[in-house]
Amino acid sequence: MDRIAIEGGARLEGEISISGAKNSAIKLMAASLLTSEPLRLTNMPRLADTRFLGQLLGRLGTEVQEQDGPEGPETLLHTPEIISAIAPYDLVRQMRASFNVLGPLLARSGQAKVSLPGGCTIGARPVDLHLEALRALGAEIDLHEGYVYAQAPRGLRGAEIVFPFVSVGATEHAMLAAVLAEGETILRNAACEPEIVDLADCLNKMGARIVGAGLDVIRIQGVSRLNGTSHAVIPDRIETGTFAMAAAMAGGEVRLTRTRNDFIANLLDKMEEAGVDVVRHNDGVTIKRNGRRLYAVAVETDPYPGFATDLQAQFMALMTLADGESVIRETIFENRFMHAPELARLGADISIQGGEARVRGVPALNGAQVMATDLRASVGLVIAGLAAKGETVVGRVYHLDRGFERLEDKLSACGARIQRLKGDSTAEEAGFDA
Ligand code: UD1
Repeated sequence: MDRIAIEGGARLEGEISISGAKNSAIKLMAASLLTSEPLRLTNMPRLADTRFLGQLLGRLGTEVQEQDGPEGPETLLHTPEIISAIAPYDLVRQMRASFNVLGPLLARSGQAKVSLPGGCTIGARPVDLHLEALRALGAEIDLHEGYVYAQAPRGLRGAEIVFPFVSVGATEHAMLAAVLAEGETILRNAACEPEIVDLADCLNKMGARIVGAGLDVIRIQGVSRLNGTSHAVIPDRIETGTFAMAAAMAGGEVRLTRTRNDFIANLLDKMEEAGVDVVRHNDGVTIKRNGRRLYAVAVETDPYPGFATDLQAQFMALMTLADGESVIRETIFENRFMHAPELARLGADISIQGGEARVRGVPALNGAQVMATDLRASVGLVIAGLAAKGETVVGRVYHLDRGFERLEDKLSACGARIQRLKGDSTAEEAGFDA
């Protein structure tokens, strides 16, 4: 199993080009099931998660071809016909978002059998809202032996769906099914994440009729068929925010390019409040910090445009060295502080009560061996390691590989002393989505 070793204390100086958004790419890949024509996705991140989904799509009938295009990595997806509408447990458990093939399979072929994704380290993560949305669209759904059996022999019908709370996955799933339903679908209390807008933009280029994506009411006028198109994946806001915090933690000056600073407006405001210099550009943001200790700042995770749950672990790492006490509230997932005891191994002072963590800043962290527990938690540990004295070794790096493209290369190009220690490769273990 690979590990990452970091010799802390090096300042970061330079430029980092941000990759395409993982959380967009995987939903866009699922959208390719909706048409018999080719879908070309550019600005694609090359990650374990996109590879897992490519394998699953291959079983369902999609030809998946990764290539280097004029603007970087791209993926061609072509599903002339659905050859199987079954998504087996082995593939779905590796990457939760593969559950989202259910809607497109149902919309295109009238039936599907898809494994339930199961829980994961950060919480129970049910899919009841996904299933309710598909039922509202007219699907008959039964659950047996860990599988969802869904049928819509006469096709899906538009409906009004009111989500009881904001769910990114369920909003995307409802969109992926409703585009081919007969009549109008209205999604109320929809998620507003940039990835939702990206999915709607791509589906609209494929011939769908979606208005309101990015707002809390989305209207979808169903169409009878969709066509192929070419679409560039939006920049990864979680990668952007992560490198912004890495630079703030290690000190120095780093320019993040080919990205959107407005996607992480909330984080950047919090970082400025903590004393980090932030310069916003058309194509990204520059983060500067020169020695001075940061102030402790409180954050609470919320659906977009609130503070992203996927940036919480990294922010906690940043606050371990701040002056004062920072209160971090996690409102999206019930068990998303597993990085706290690992940060404590580096000398952080954190106490947890329910969904609230109190981080009392310490003057210094000291390197130690730590274990990654999920994707975003593991990168929080890497960030802490950049500022800790001595060597930090992060185990279970397969979590990182699921969602960060060439993390060590990008950081070491800016002067970080970070390297991958190769282990035996028996443990591309069950993915825990994040
Ligand atoms: C969530 C995050 C997303 C993040 C991703 C991975 C939010 C609103 N969503 O998206 O930003 O990138 O995790 O970390 O911040 N839920 C149900 N029933 C359902 C679906 C969801 O109870 O059918 C609950 C979840 O358990 C969670 C909340 O709703 O407590 C929001 O979940 P949802 O947005 O659907 O999760 P993801 O799509 O995975």
